[in-house]
Amino acid sequence: MSEPRAARRGRWTAPDIAGMKRRGELVAVATAYDFPTARLADEAGVEVLLVGDSLGTVVLGYETTLPVTMADMLHHVKAVTRARPSALVVADMPFLSYQASIEDAVRNAGRFVQEGGADAVKLEGGERVAPAVRRIVEIGIPVMGHLGLTPQSLLALGGYKVQGKGEAEAERLVGEARLLEQCGCFAVVLEGIPARLGAAASRELGIPTIGIGAGPGCDGQVLVSHDLLGLTQGRVPRFVRRYADLAGTMRDAFAHYVADVKARRFPSDEESY
Ligand code: KIV
Repeated sequence: MSEPRAARRGRWTAPDIAGMKRRGELVAVATAYDFPTARLADEAGVEVLLVGDSLGTVVLGYETTLPVTMADMLHHVKAVTRARPSALVVADMPFLSYQASIEDAVRNAGRFVQEGGADAVKLEGGERVAPAVRRIVEIGIPVMGHLGLTPQSLLALGGYKVQGKGEAEAERLVGEARLLEQCGCFAVVLEGIPARLGAAASRELGIPTIGIGAGPGCDGQVLVSHDLLGLTQGRVPRFVRRYADLAGTMRDAFAHYVADVKARRFPSDEESY
């Protein structure tokens, strides 16, 4: 079992994260939706905490990320930033918070910074969100891009399918990644694409690529914390590695507690006043 890394003095900034690629350092990103998880992941040395809109599926019980609102996201972004992590906190912009107009995109990105205390925002998409990305960057908010399998486009994609398999699609993805870099993104998430394409896009860009189901050639990796901790019930995607079985640990603990209550083993004299 590895020791928690000593807390970093000072906070990670978006330029620090972008600079990791130049220094040949890989970026470890994990999602966090609450105060204790943010603290623990930060103490362990995660450099970027992503308050993902996966909040909807892993915490709020929705089937997709589409019902997640700004109010939902702000509630959880605030919980994460209250942990005052050294890690950079990235707030994921939920469906309909940036697609209808550039004004919406700027105002909602600003809310994550002003009300939520986030350090950066993430938007899904390439060419169609480029003008919004450019404007958000211009007003001083760092932006992380997100290409490939973008879950907010689930209906249009026809399901959670690996993207960029054909040559034309792969070329388009690399072109869109370059465009996001030109618009000022400090990093870009690549989700659900062939490993070869993840590596090729990473070679093309000066900013770090953060892979999830995009192979080992990316400049960093991101996992949903509930997946990596073994809290997700049922089937998980092939790209997930489980580093713990917290679901099993929690189930056993609850069962033990129930048994102790029923047998009057809890509370003991020492646990009573
Ligand atoms: O919402 C999320 O957690 C994400 C990551 C999986 C990249 O977008």
